Amino acid sequence: MMTRTTAIVGAIFSAGLAISCLAADSNPAMHNHNMQHMMHDASDSRISLGLSPQRKQHQLANMRSHVRAVQTIVGLMAQDKYDQASRVAHTELGLTDEMKKMCMMFNNADFVKLGLAFHQSADKLAETLKTKDAKKSLAALHATMNYCVQCHATFRQ
Ligand code: HEC
Repeated sequence: MMTRTTAIVGAIFSAGLAISCLAADSNPAMHNHNMQHMMHDASDSRISLGLSPQRKQHQLANMRSHVRAVQTIVGLMAQDKYDQASRVAHTELGLTDEMKKMCMMFNNADFVKLGLAFHQSADKLAETLKTKDAKKSLAALHATMNYCVQCHATFRQ
């Protein structure tokens, strides 16, 4: 008798718990989502580049390839493949003609300046990687990534 009551109480209790977990899962998440939308314009004081939806997607895809390049460079450094890391730094992040053209398309002179300086620093990184000196290479990567941080803190789409 005792065990049966305990089992029933247990079943009711865990059903209640499951329901409250579900509630806890969906409601606050939706609440946060709405809050983020509401807060975006009010609290985001970064300069907008005023991009069209198409340009936005293009920029984000380009950015995702930037973060992939950094990941690849760090991985190659860990394997002592500095020449390969140098090539990635130049071709993926450096100031190639294609990259220059892409940067110049933006209507904001400060953004263009920052973008060009960023790509130039990646070419310096490519040169430093050729020395195969880990400390110097990390310092150069750090300098390049300062531009990522600085630009993200200043501009939004
Ligand atoms: C000259 C400016 C500039 C530089 C330099 C820059 N970014 Fe960005 N990046 C942006 C802007 C603008 C956005 C869009 C941010 C927004 O609207 O909130 C962005 C977005 C991103 C995103 C989001 C992509 C997505 O799909 O949501 C990633 C990841 C990113 N950048 C990585 C990097 C990395 C890594 C570097 C450096 C190696 C870098 N960026 C350098 C301007 C820059």
